[in-house]
Amino acid sequence: MNAHVLVAFAGKHGSTAEIADKIGQTLREAGLQTDVSPVKRVGDLSAYKAVVLGSAIYIGQWRKEAVRFLKANEMALAGRPLWLFSSGPTGSGDPLELLKGWRFPKALQPVFDRVKPRGIAVFHGMIDVKKAGFFERWVIKKVKAPVGDFRDWNAIASWAAAIAKELK
Ligand SMILES: Cc1cc2nc3c(=O)[nH]c(=O)nc-3n(C[C@H](O)[C@H](O)[C@H](O)COP(=O)(O)O)c2cc1C
Repeated sequence: MNAHVLVAFAGKHGSTAEIADKIGQTLREAGLQTDVSPVKRVGDLSAYKAVVLGSAIYIGQWRKEAVRFLKANEMALAGRPLWLFSSGPTGSGDPLELLKGWRFPKALQPVFDRVKPRGIAVFHGMIDVKKAGFFERWVIKKVKAPVGDFRDWNAIASWAAAIAKELK
């Protein structure tokens, strides 16, 4: 019963969902029963022994539903091994360098301090202009964000494999 891992995520255009799937797949391959779910569909956390929570970054922030999930489940998350990830920067090179030191939204620092994640990762994201709305296209142009799929599946899989190792 009490042996599942939850990978909960929030995104807008599907690329964070695929990162969450990759994490889930890696955990399963390591022998851990794992559910992957959008945060909006997650209810009670009591069946989970550990949680991985991730969000896409939009204008320096996590998705609202991820923030809501984090705050609403603070107690439960603090009582379990927890890992957090953000997906966002496009372009080549180290994601933290692309973000000039940004590691997670500043406003979440107090919550992060309380839930004490065992790891915080930032993964490259993907921008598909075809999926972007008018405002999004304007932002992409304004900040000259590189367009394309920059997700680093090896980095994602090795991060997840390290989580599996800690949980076994
Ligand atoms: C309007 C807009 C704003 C964005 N702002 C950021 C940002 O501040 N930092 C960042 O690293 N990535 C930013 N991104 C890139 C997204 O985080 C990236 O495309 C991510 O993979 C999207 O995930 P999703 O497909 O799950 O929605 C932005 C993308 C768009 C379209």
